[in-house]
Amino acid sequence: MRLFSSLCLLLLALLSVVSGRSAVGDRVLVILEDESQKGLYSKFWADLEDRDFKLSFESPRNEQLSLFRHGQLAYEHLILTPPKSKGYGPTLTPKILLDYVNAGGNVLLGLSSESGTPSAVSSLLLEFDISLSPDKHSIVVDHFNYDKVSAAEKHDVLLVERPGQLRPDVVNFFGGEGTLAVPRAVGQTLGPAIPLIAPILKAPMTAYAYNPGEEAQSVEEPFATGSQLNIVSAMQARNSARFTVLGSLEMLQDKWFGATVQLPGGKTSKTVNQEFVKQLTEWTFQEVGVLKVFSVQHYQITTASEPSQNTTQIWEYNPEMYRIKNDVKFSIEIGQYDRTHYVPFVVPDTDALQLEFTMLSPFHRLPLTPSTTTDNSTIYSTTFTTPDQHGIFAFKVNYKRPFLTPIEERHQVTVRHFAHDEWPRSWAITGAWPWVGGLWSVIVGFLLFVLLWLYSEPPKEEIERRRALSVSTS
Ligand SMILES: *[C@@H]1O[C@H](CO)[C@@H](O)[C@H](O)[C@H]1NC(C)=O
Ligand SMILES: *[C@@H]1O[C@H](CO)[C@@H](O)[C@H](O)[C@H]1NC(C)=O
Repeated sequence: MRLFSSLCLLLLALLSVVSGRSAVGDRVLVILEDESQKGLYSKFWADLEDRDFKLSFESPRNEQLSLFRHGQLAYEHLILTPPKSKGYGPTLTPKILLDYVNAGGNVLLGLSSESGTPSAVSSLLLEFDISLSPDKHSIVVDHFNYDKVSAAEKHDVLLVERPGQLRPDVVNFFGGEGTLAVPRAVGQTLGPAIPLIAPILKAPMTAYAYNPGEEAQSVEEPFATGSQLNIVSAMQARNSARFTVLGSLEMLQDKWFGATVQLPGGKTSKTVNQEFVKQLTEWTFQEVGVLKVFSVQHYQITTASEPSQNTTQIWEYNPEMYRIKNDVKFSIEIGQYDRTHYVPFVVPDTDALQLEFTMLSPFHRLPLTPSTTTDNSTIYSTTFTTPDQHGIFAFKVNYKRPFLTPIEERHQVTVRHFAHDEWPRSWAITGAWPWVGGLWSVIVGFLLFVLLWLYSEPPKEEIERRRALSVSTS
């Protein structure tokens, strides 16, 4: 038995040593219908293998294919290339893909206007509030930002600047200089309903979507125009699974990695598709932007009565109960996964990490400030006084930002009243002195009165009168 358990431990230790660059795992399943197309993307596969990913190629028509094994993910990451037929077949239905995302699997979905987008894929995307043009073969064109070398006539190879800062409060994982070549992209529009989706790469202002097959009709009423159209968009589920939609799978082909392109104005440049695609897969496969809460600590700060003693004394870490008007310190330790290990997480200046002390609604909402930095994390902390209200409270940290793993911490505590012996004594309250004085003066006055009464002699005539009375009756 002992041998068996030590073998198990050894196995576990070995398993934990085996790890790729991703925070979750290194197994990638590539769904590729046409084996012969594999060669077109050789640089892309090589980039992934350089980063220690283990690629398995499968055809969607393989009946044995399964994303799960023994109820666990068989692959942490999935790359979907567009199918030739109506969908991916019975082993990769939208329902199975949704289950896969719900179980924490990451998906990179490549679209292509050439083979058209099957309705199964459009309906899967609709689940995430990402819509594609109802016209299956519609592509994004732009008559101002196209590549003169490869699309002089059709204007369907877009030249797009690499995305700059997406939002001031968002850490940018896709930034950089350079031009991207986006051939024959399928544009997506994002609905307002789900805050989990975010655009990564938008089409230029002058772009619009149309179907080159049936020109006249669709040009009059394009599906979407300008920056409404997204070329790359992302959805991050609450379980931090990532789903990236790449409007143009062709972008990943070797010929566009570092291709020389020319704007209509005459400016030539080399594309940065390779770097951008690397950033994109790094994010999608959870090599960056993964936050982890290492520890949460809260305790009561008490000031020692004698100044010669050390001033703060901690009674207990993470107690279940506080009293009203206690001074409390809260700290949370957060690390950010960066390709190989965890590094300290720094909240951007324009943003804030906040603590809420809440019962139904927050009584306190306080900024957490970095207090200590370790090798792998930053400790954010704050101090506050519990409100003058008893009940069941919770320490809450709710930090959800696009492209970062959501942090949702909730620690419940009870806040009680003062116990009867915790109130200050009556004589310690100066305002009570008149009343206390009044009380004691009544007591002392009464006692004095009784003493006086007991020891005072009755008047002389009274004694005489009583004596006379007693003689006459007898
Ligand atoms: C602070 O006080 C506690 C309890 O009295 C004691 O155990 C601890 O050693 C003191 N710490 C320091 C730094 O003096
Ligand atoms: C913590 O940081 C050190 C030094 O940077 C690194 O070697 C180690 O792997 C990190 N630990 C984790 C859990 O990421």
